[in-house]
Amino acid sequence: MKPDLVSAGKGMLLEPHHPELARDFTVHYLPMKPEEHAAFLKPIADKVRFLQTTGTYGANAALMDLLPKLEIIATVSVGVDTIDLAHAKKRGIRVTNTPDVLNDCVADLAIGLMIGAARHLAHSDRYVREGKWLKGAMPIMTRVSRKRLGIVGLGKIGKAIAKRATGFDMTIAYHGRTEQKDVPYRFYADLAELAANVDFMVIVTPGGAATKGLVNEKVIRALGPKGILVNVSRGSVVDQAALVRALKEGALGGAGLDVFEAEPKVPEELFAMENVLLTPHVGSATTETRLDMGNLAIANLRAHLAGKPLLTPVV
Ligand code: DGY
Repeated sequence: MKPDLVSAGKGMLLEPHHPELARDFTVHYLPMKPEEHAAFLKPIADKVRFLQTTGTYGANAALMDLLPKLEIIATVSVGVDTIDLAHAKKRGIRVTNTPDVLNDCVADLAIGLMIGAARHLAHSDRYVREGKWLKGAMPIMTRVSRKRLGIVGLGKIGKAIAKRATGFDMTIAYHGRTEQKDVPYRFYADLAELAANVDFMVIVTPGGAATKGLVNEKVIRALGPKGILVNVSRGSVVDQAALVRALKEGALGGAGLDVFEAEPKVPEELFAMENVLLTPHVGSATTETRLDMGNLAIANLRAHLAGKPLLTPVV
């Protein structure tokens, strides 16, 4: 008899992951609506030890408590901000995520958003398609190369962004909880001070309570009317209302945003802005990276099943 596993938010899994999961587990795909969870899980609750989830879906205390035998939650995401880690710890439930395998893709997108926002790529595309070029040239925009880049959260993804930005001859500085002595970039303990001293600011710090609203009105306004803000982390890190306000008033130069406060809802005021580039939380969304992420989550589940050490434990 294979052990039972509940899969929540199967959207992050690719087609080859399903037979892989089914090789070792009897898989129960959880309905998306929380109000359907209790009835769905009741007949299997006493035997489910494994839960696979995603960064968007997460696992709250209510879901965990519908599964009294739960031993492990494996999320197909690096972010764990939607998992109640304190509750998991209290219950003795292990949690794993999928770090590292997505660093390159998220860094690639951050650079793409930076260039896209600075050079108005979405607007340029529409300009050609809508025949506006026939009537006149696009206004000129701002350079990326040789400008100053501020990275908020110099972890592995932040460093991958810095490596790419070095290729653009950018001057790099960063803000984080602590100064890192082994990096050649200037550290700013004060985020607003960093913002005031760069042209581009990329946010890549983890989401969650500790960083909620970190990029506030003061920081956004310090970046200023020529500054460009890029967010590939979590919408919660930025005060979204303050961001929209600053863009509307011309107090911020532009933005490249992959993440938002209440996804998939995006403030409609942003839609008409030529200096804003919007993507639907696709930092890791390539076949190669999503394959690696799903495989890593499955490897963690299998390791737990075999009583071996977890590959990428969080809790
Ligand atoms: C991650 O891995 O955390 C991505 O943002 C997808 O949720």
